[in-house]
Amino acid sequence: MKVAYTVKDLRDWLAESKKSGGTIGFVPTMGYLHDGHASLFYKAKETADIVVASVFVNPTQFGPNEDFETYPRDFEHDLRIAESCGVDIVFHPDVSEIYSDSDMIQLKVTDRADVLCGKSRPGHFDGVVTVLTRLFHIVQPDYAFFGKKDAQQLAIVQGLIQTLHFPIRLIPCETVREADGLAKSSRNVRLSVEERKEAVHLYQSLTLGRHLIEKGERDAERIRQAVMAHLEEHLKLGRIDYVEVLSYPQLKVIESINDTVIIALAVFYANARLIDNVIIEIPS
Ligand code: PAF
Repeated sequence: MKVAYTVKDLRDWLAESKKSGGTIGFVPTMGYLHDGHASLFYKAKETADIVVASVFVNPTQFGPNEDFETYPRDFEHDLRIAESCGVDIVFHPDVSEIYSDSDMIQLKVTDRADVLCGKSRPGHFDGVVTVLTRLFHIVQPDYAFFGKKDAQQLAIVQGLIQTLHFPIRLIPCETVREADGLAKSSRNVRLSVEERKEAVHLYQSLTLGRHLIEKGERDAERIRQAVMAHLEEHLKLGRIDYVEVLSYPQLKVIESINDTVIIALAVFYANARLIDNVIIEIPS
């Protein structure tokens, strides 16, 4: 496995691989890799000839009071995981390799960003599309792999690829969960033992919402309230940021569920904000 710290090195290596006509699969990450990332690497390995993973904690997607400085980082551990999953090249640039004082273009997300996490993290998705646009231009992948756990990000990346005509096939990948259902996340290490036990209710509340839909409930607000009530009953340490039932991937408020829908939630713990969701397709 190669490790590129500069755009030049990465491009030189990729140019070599492209000469032989191989396809490139790209998994962008912020590091502190876990099984969720591993599943993206495996999927990329299955799909493309060469797998590139970026490990870059992107400053522009963190707000002034968010955890950019303290976001968990362990590059040696990341290299071990990436190598064990068959990643061919890890791209680990410095901030100055991606951003410079002479930058003069800004990107702004104008749809799908003012709900869910976008509401409590203004500017977050502008930062995500900004870095992804740069990374897509640098790597020029044929496929890009994103987890469904970040469902709003996935919906926005779909819009980014379409709007900017990137010749990239987006591959959504299933959320990887702990045995008790908690979605794997780099931020889970920040939960106390008690918080970790309680956090099982995030997925349980979503499962309850899914069952209601499967049993025929079509009133979005009633489902939202049932999920909310489950969380309010069981969370003693966590504070609910939001529970929403929206159309997917459009992320619009709906009254009645007739098409694919997302039930999404976010909960604040002392040192971590956790998100999770289920996406449910309605048979026609
Ligand atoms: O999902 C993430 O880890 C980040 O938002 C991403 C896509 C790597 C962009 O920085």
